[in-house]
Amino acid sequence: MIETGRTGRTWLLTGENSGYALALTERDELLHLHWGPRITLAAAESLAAAPDLPHRSFESPLDGHEEYPVEGGPRFVRPALSVRTPLVRGTEWAFRSAGTEGDELRIGFTDAVHGLALTLHYRMRDDSDVVERWATVAHAGPDGPPLELLRADAAAWSLPARDGWRLSRLHGRWSAETRIERAELLHGESVISSRRGHTGHQYLPWAALDADGAATEESGEVYGCALGWSGSWRISVQRLPDGLVQITGGAGHDDSGLLRLAPGESYTTPVFAGLWSEGGFGGASRAWHSWQLAHVVPDAGSLRPVLYNSWEATGFDISLDQQRALARRAAAMGVELFVVDDAWFAGRTSDRAGLGDWTPDRDRFPGGLKPLADEVHGLGMRFGIWVEPEMVNPDSDLYRAHPDWVQHVPGRTRTEYRNQLVLNLARPDVRAYLWDQLDTLLSGTPVDYVKWDFNRCFTDPGWPGEEYPQKIWTAHVQALYALIDRLRAAHPAVAFESCSGGGGRIDLGILSRTDQVWTSDNTDPLDRLAIHEGFGHLHPARVMAAWVTDSPNRQLNGRVSSLRFRFVSAMAGVLGIGGNLTEWSEEELAEARDWVDLYKEIRPVVQHGALYRLRAPRGGLSAVQYVLGEETVVLMWLAAQRYGERPPALRLRGLDPAAAYTCRDTGAVHHGSVLLHQGLHTGLRGDLDARVLRLGRR
Ligand code: DGJ
Repeated sequence: MIETGRTGRTWLLTGENSGYALALTERDELLHLHWGPRITLAAAESLAAAPDLPHRSFESPLDGHEEYPVEGGPRFVRPALSVRTPLVRGTEWAFRSAGTEGDELRIGFTDAVHGLALTLHYRMRDDSDVVERWATVAHAGPDGPPLELLRADAAAWSLPARDGWRLSRLHGRWSAETRIERAELLHGESVISSRRGHTGHQYLPWAALDADGAATEESGEVYGCALGWSGSWRISVQRLPDGLVQITGGAGHDDSGLLRLAPGESYTTPVFAGLWSEGGFGGASRAWHSWQLAHVVPDAGSLRPVLYNSWEATGFDISLDQQRALARRAAAMGVELFVVDDAWFAGRTSDRAGLGDWTPDRDRFPGGLKPLADEVHGLGMRFGIWVEPEMVNPDSDLYRAHPDWVQHVPGRTRTEYRNQLVLNLARPDVRAYLWDQLDTLLSGTPVDYVKWDFNRCFTDPGWPGEEYPQKIWTAHVQALYALIDRLRAAHPAVAFESCSGGGGRIDLGILSRTDQVWTSDNTDPLDRLAIHEGFGHLHPARVMAAWVTDSPNRQLNGRVSSLRFRFVSAMAGVLGIGGNLTEWSEEELAEARDWVDLYKEIRPVVQHGALYRLRAPRGGLSAVQYVLGEETVVLMWLAAQRYGERPPALRLRGLDPAAAYTCRDTGAVHHGSVLLHQGLHTGLRGDLDARVLRLGRR
């Protein structure tokens, strides 16, 4: 809900449990007033009437109080907007107009010197506490020199004054993504970013702050923000000299965000979403999840199928007969979607060749992919394929025909990573080629699912012949989004997975146009517990793909683990199987079938339920719980038992203390009050043990 104050210069957005208020001063400065529990419009107006802007020498009264700090005037914080023409740098705004459209608030400004128009957008939905913010910057024209956007963030967030703050982030690298770390926020600036052209394995574009480091998993105030952008990006968290905190975030990092606007042109930033919760880190996660399931992820009300993916089983050495054999075993196990990973296309016998030529390899698939797709469908499964459209191997027909289609800087080395180069999607001819290839592929073969991979960073972002090549960073992501959107519109039954060497492209932008993401190339079931823990701070299990692979683990570390442990680990998200099923024994296949059956029973609760992180995976007992309506599912793991001691009792959450719960497996009755307070003993022992507990309210 949006309310406007009597003067037309104060606004209050109210969500499920929280409110957000802002107001214009007489000098047209847009001040932040409130972000926290719900307040009334009268309270917002009282804040607007007496803004707390102390005047002190050497400090700006505005710093830490503005909704969108710009460069110019009495401001010393990092600006959200930095603009220049050949003659003038910085901006000075005059309020233009404000208006609402549905649940969106728009506040517009103009800068007469630049002929620049700025619109700040806000949306807070009634069923959520997430505030969605973004900005549009336009060269109002009709003439004048081009404007260079040195920086155009999506939003700036201001936090209330507190004694101190703790900053939480999700850091990682390839095969070790989304690990949570927390530390006191020191004065100055903390920056997380990607300057790689994709979201990156190194950080999720997310940060959370809790006052005085006092929040726990289930209590305390937590502020969070997350960016929806799949290219280079930057989030800067500043603790100002007076203890206030300002967070800015947007596309690009340093030069990778540069843009130029000619008269009449505009740029719309990605969405930078913010959330306040007083339910601790767990409450904040659940609020993020329900917002994404309701408003971000396409068709999130549907359940994701159990998939089989052949990558770890076969690598590049694939054939029709081998895929058929895997498909038959997968189908017998209850798999619902069979995905052929890399190497189905022409010339792709290793990572040295083939990317760019998206036609089936006639040696390995003499009749194309259709016979395999038909067989997979005949087995009762959906059929999926892997692609990496933004890339090309120098050893490919595409590159031989169009060596100028890749990002490159004339006279410099074309850096190869994994023997591949990045196509310049900002070029219309490249976009047309990719559309044609992919549309033809999806039209000619009954494909239900596309795993869209991206396996290297930008290194040589040049665009010979283009007058303003710096825009390549932003234009690439815009072109990627447009291509996926167009494919989805033309092939609405096809689902998409975002992958980038595992979790290198996970953000709200890609999640608004894909159905699930490949969380990590690390399929070790123990490592995955921590990766899942971090991932779940922002994104729901409904999009978090996890595979059961072979033991010893082939991909990473040779760790030996039971099928039970591997399954219960992967069942925390969207279950997949990625092992070499032709080497699994009859007993293993039968046991796997039972696990798949069990997953299908608990799937609605896991994929759509509220997540409670009961114990973090730090070496001993860890567990997560999902609650949906009357049903509760607990997944628990014991990494290693020490000294023969019984693991601690597991206290559940999210239950009704007055209700009784029946164990779906044993029929035993448990009292909610006991489960919440005393907890229950897990029965886990030894190393790498795991268990699924299902409870139903009586
Ligand atoms: C990287 C992905 O993360 C893997 O799952 C697999 O698809 C390979 N690429 C294929 O090249």
